[in-house]
Amino acid sequence: MHHPRLLKHVKEVEELKKIAGISACSYVQDGMIIGLGTGSTVKYTIIEIGRKISEENLDIIGVPTSLETKKLAENLNIPLMTIDDIVTVDLTIDGTDEFDPSFNLIKGGGGALTREKIVAKASKSMVVVADSSKQVLTLGSFPLPIEVNLEKWIDVERQISEFCPNDISLRGGKENPFITDNGGVILDANFGPTIIKPRELEEKIGRIQGVVEVGLFVGMCDAVVLASNDEVAILTNPHGRLS
Ligand code: 5RP
Repeated sequence: MHHPRLLKHVKEVEELKKIAGISACSYVQDGMIIGLGTGSTVKYTIIEIGRKISEENLDIIGVPTSLETKKLAENLNIPLMTIDDIVTVDLTIDGTDEFDPSFNLIKGGGGALTREKIVAKASKSMVVVADSSKQVLTLGSFPLPIEVNLEKWIDVERQISEFCPNDISLRGGKENPFITDNGGVILDANFGPTIIKPRELEEKIGRIQGVVEVGLFVGMCDAVVLASNDEVAILTNPHGRLS
C-alpha cells in the first residue's frame, strides 16, 4: 500500500512537471522545427505542441529524440522529420536529470541520451524543462548514464571504475540489460556530487573505446523552465543563445 503522504508528493511532482512542460511552449513559434526531447516532463510540452497545432493551426515540424517520443508525437498528429532529413533545428525542448548553476546537465535517465545529444547539437537553442528536484550545485548525485556498445561494456566499466569513486551498474542487470534505441546498453556511473569539470569528464569517458555517448551536456542549455511549489521561473543562461 502507498503511504498517503508519499502519494501526495508524487502527485505534486507530476503537477510541477506538467506546469514546466507547458510553460516551455512560450518559446514555440509558428513555422519552427522543434527537437522533441524524451521523458515524463517534456511529455507535457509535446502534448501542448500537439494542441497548438490542432487548435491554433500552428505550422510545426517535430524531430523526435527517441522511439517513445516518436510514438507520442505520432498519436498527437505532430508532423515529424528525422534528424537525417534536416540540417538545423530551431529549438530543442528536453528534460534533464540534473542541472548545475552553469547550465550543464546530466541526461539519459530515460536512456535516450545519444539521440538527445545529436538533436540538441543540431539546434539553434535548447530549453530544458524541470521541476526543482533537478537543480543541484554540483552534478553527479544522479548516476551518470553512459551509452556503450553491447559487446564492450565489461571493458568500459573496468576502465571507468579506475576513476569513478563509487559503483557503476549495467542498467537492467546482466540477465536483462536495458537496450537503447541504437542497440547499445547503459552504464550508470555513480560519481556522487563531484563533477566539477563536466567537459573534462565527458572527454575522458568519451575517449574510452566502446563508449557511444556520455550523458553530460556541457554548454548546450540556454534556459531552464523550472517549476517549484511557489512559481515557474525561467532561468536564462547568461552565456547562452537566448540571453
Ligand atoms: C531521457 C532524459 C530525460 O530527459 C531525463 O531523464 C528527465 O526525464 P524526466 O522528465 O522523466 O524526469 O534524459 O534520456
